[in-house]
Amino acid sequence: MSAHVTAFAPGRVNLIGEHTDYNQGLALPFAIADGVSVRATPLEDALIEATALDVDERDSFSLDEVGEAEGWRAFVRGAAGELAGVGVPLRGASLSISGTVPRGAGLSSSAALEVALVLALLAVADAPEPDRLELARLCSRIENDWVGAQTGLLDQIASLFGEPDRALRIDFASLSVEPVRLDLGDFKLIVLDSGEEHTHAGSGYNERRAECAEAASRLELESLRQATLSDAERLPAPLSLRVRHVVSENARVGEAVAALEREDLDELGRLLDASHASLRDCYEVSTDAVEDAVARCKAAGALGARIMGGGFGGSVLALMPGDAEAPSGSVEVRPGQGARVST
Ligand code: GLA
Repeated sequence: MSAHVTAFAPGRVNLIGEHTDYNQGLALPFAIADGVSVRATPLEDALIEATALDVDERDSFSLDEVGEAEGWRAFVRGAAGELAGVGVPLRGASLSISGTVPRGAGLSSSAALEVALVLALLAVADAPEPDRLELARLCSRIENDWVGAQTGLLDQIASLFGEPDRALRIDFASLSVEPVRLDLGDFKLIVLDSGEEHTHAGSGYNERRAECAEAASRLELESLRQATLSDAERLPAPLSLRVRHVVSENARVGEAVAALEREDLDELGRLLDASHASLRDCYEVSTDAVEDAVARCKAAGALGARIMGGGFGGSVLALMPGDAEAPSGSVEVRPGQGARVST
C-alpha cells in the first residue's frame, strides 16, 4: 500500500468581476499563497477517518454509506460522494486537514477545502486526475448539493488554475481560462478582513443568485451575460439594480485587463472603486463593517478598494502604493501556483 500523499489547494483573491460567475460573465481572480492542506494515509478498511486539525474535530464514515453532515464534515462527505458518483474507485484513508486561509473571510477557504480533499482522495486511491475544469465542476457540486451554497465556479477555477505572477481572465460562458500578466510595478495589493465572518449558505448569496435567474427569465435571456443596461431599465427594482451591476461589472473586467496591459494602475484603482460602488449600491452586498474596512484602506492611500467575494462581510481588496503604510491587520497578496499534490 502506498504511503501518504498531501494535497494543497490555495485560496483566491478576485481582482475584479464579482457575482458574475453564475451569470456566465467574466472575472479576473488569482490563487494566493495561503490555502488548505489535506494529508491522506491509506487505510485497510473502506472508511474515511478525517481530522480537522485547526478546530480539533473528527469525523468517520464508511465509503459504502457516505451520508450527510454539517459544517466542514459536509465537505469531506461531499468530496467522497461526488468522486464515487463519477465512478472513481475510492480507497479508505485517514485525512488530516489544516489551513492557513481564514474561514469566512472572503478568500475562498471553502473552495480550497473542496479542491484539496478531492485531489487527496484521488491521489491516495491512485486514480488519475480528471481534467481540471471537470474537477472545478465536481468541487462546485460539493458546495451546491452537500453544503447548500449555490456558488459558481470562480473560486474552484482560481484554486485549480493559479499561476505565479498571473491573474486568470475567466469567461464563464465558454469556460475559457486565460492567464493575464499581473505586473503591479511600484504598487501592491492588500486584503483587509472586515472582521465580519460570512457563510454563503447562510447569507443573502443564494437570494442574489435567485434574483439574477429571475431577471434573466423575465428578459427571456439564457443568462445575464446577454443583458444590456437598457434591459435593466425594463425591470422593477431590485432586479433592475442587480442587472445593472452584472452588466457594468463584466465591462469592468475587460477594462481592467486592458489597464493591466498598458500598466495603467491609476485606472485599475478607479475600476476597483467603481466595482465597490456597484456592489454596495446596486448589488447590495456590503455591510457597515465592510464600508469601514474600505474607508481605512482609502485613508491609508489606496488607489482603489472594494469588497471581495460573496459579500455580507469578509475581506476588502485594495491597491496601494508600494511604500504606503497599509492598515494594521492587512496582508499583502500575490498570485501563486494553483493546487498540487506531493508524495
Ligand atoms: C463567492 C462564490 C463565487 C462567486 C463570488 C462572487 O466567492 O463562491 O462563486 O460567486 O462569491 O463573485
